Amino acid sequence: MTAVESPASGGCPVHHGFEPFDQKNPFPAYAELRREEPVMFDERVGYWVVTRYDDVKAVFDDWETFSSENAQAPVRERGAEAERIMAEGGFTAYSGLSARTPPEHTRIRKVAQKAFTPRRFKVLEPSIRAHVVQCLEEMLERPGAEGDFFADLAYDVPTVTILTLIGADTAKVDLFKQWSDSRAAMTWGDLSDEEQIPHAHNLVDYWQECLRLVQDAHDTERDTLVGDMVRSQQAGDEISDHEIASVVYSMLFAGHETTTTLISNAMRVLLGHPEQWRQLVDDPSRIPGAIDEVLRYSGSIVAWRRKALRDTEVGGVAIPAGAELLLVMGSANRDEHRFDGGETFDISRENAREHLSFGFGIHYCLGNMLAKLQAKIALEEIARLMPGVRLQEGADIGFRENLSFRVPLEVPVTWKEAA
Ligand code: HEM
Repeated sequence: MTAVESPASGGCPVHHGFEPFDQKNPFPAYAELRREEPVMFDERVGYWVVTRYDDVKAVFDDWETFSSENAQAPVRERGAEAERIMAEGGFTAYSGLSARTPPEHTRIRKVAQKAFTPRRFKVLEPSIRAHVVQCLEEMLERPGAEGDFFADLAYDVPTVTILTLIGADTAKVDLFKQWSDSRAAMTWGDLSDEEQIPHAHNLVDYWQECLRLVQDAHDTERDTLVGDMVRSQQAGDEISDHEIASVVYSMLFAGHETTTTLISNAMRVLLGHPEQWRQLVDDPSRIPGAIDEVLRYSGSIVAWRRKALRDTEVGGVAIPAGAELLLVMGSANRDEHRFDGGETFDISRENAREHLSFGFGIHYCLGNMLAKLQAKIALEEIARLMPGVRLQEGADIGFRENLSFRVPLEVPVTWKEAA
């Protein structure tokens, strides 16, 4: 099967309006794909684009047929200069977990999971709350009663949390954010060879920092995630220093990037539905349910990759061995066959938790509880301290260009008295 040829476009493929890197409003194209061509080969990126809920979930669930080995592969080939910079800088990072496959994945995930227990991050809850309150108070003190939940709150809080858990320097939020942006752009972006160069330098520094953190935990006993993994190794668990550094490399990215987006999306979407925001202000016990609905309706990661290891089929379409698939969770999450009125945002939805925004199966997101905990604290404190907050008049929020990460550029808000 190939993209539909439209007579109106002079025989060019139309892809049902799907633009792989354009995240402004991909939902009408998703809906058309689900209806017209739920498993479509997109020759522009070389992926089979899968958009129905049952198909996406079935692929995630069948790791023996669909390997995650391509999950961290650069979408666009690296340029020669970027390759040279990374090779000379000793960049040997490989995925921590998400692009590893069993039995290696099982072995490393066991060690990472032992370190990443709810006990480890639950103790941080009071300091996360204090940090959120501090950000909000700084916003409230600013003249003009205007702010941006992305820059003023969602950017810092999850980053400081994961840096604390890992034992990295919490004063360097901007540097870690810059490295993460480089990773997102180099892996899932559409960069020219020239544009890749500064990001290649950043990836070298980022990886060297991961190696340094592991060495530091060997040199000095640390009560951190890295310390826990090093102790597991010393107690006989089979995991190398390079593998621990790779898990750190994963978490220093996955641990904040997507949570910054979750908190931003939660406020963007809720304030776009003021009557539902009001319901949360009146009854904050509904916040956890609302967060699942945000993850369903506007997830931080809208698409994730797999590779077919043998000839198979998805949704009745033949998929050859070696084919690469783009699982569009952002579409699956709105599939009417799973979610009644899937295009409607509704914090009362009973099955919102069935969303696929954290993936499914053996790679299911290790940090899902930490992400939800931080979003819950952020929303509780906004509801308490800024109950009347609303989106700035005429706000037209843009999104970063990316294949997988749907990141709003800002969430401009005001708490001025309504005229
Ligand atoms: C809203 C926030 C988050 C979203 C939407 C998200 C999403 C995802 C997705 C889609 C996957 C791939 C799942 C699969 O292949 O089946 C994943 C894996 C992973 N996530 Fe998250 N994530 C979030 C937050 C976090 C946080 C806070 C951490 C860590 C501190 C984290 C750590 C990981 C790790 C280590 C994996 C790899 C697991 C494996 O392959 O076994 N994530 N996440």
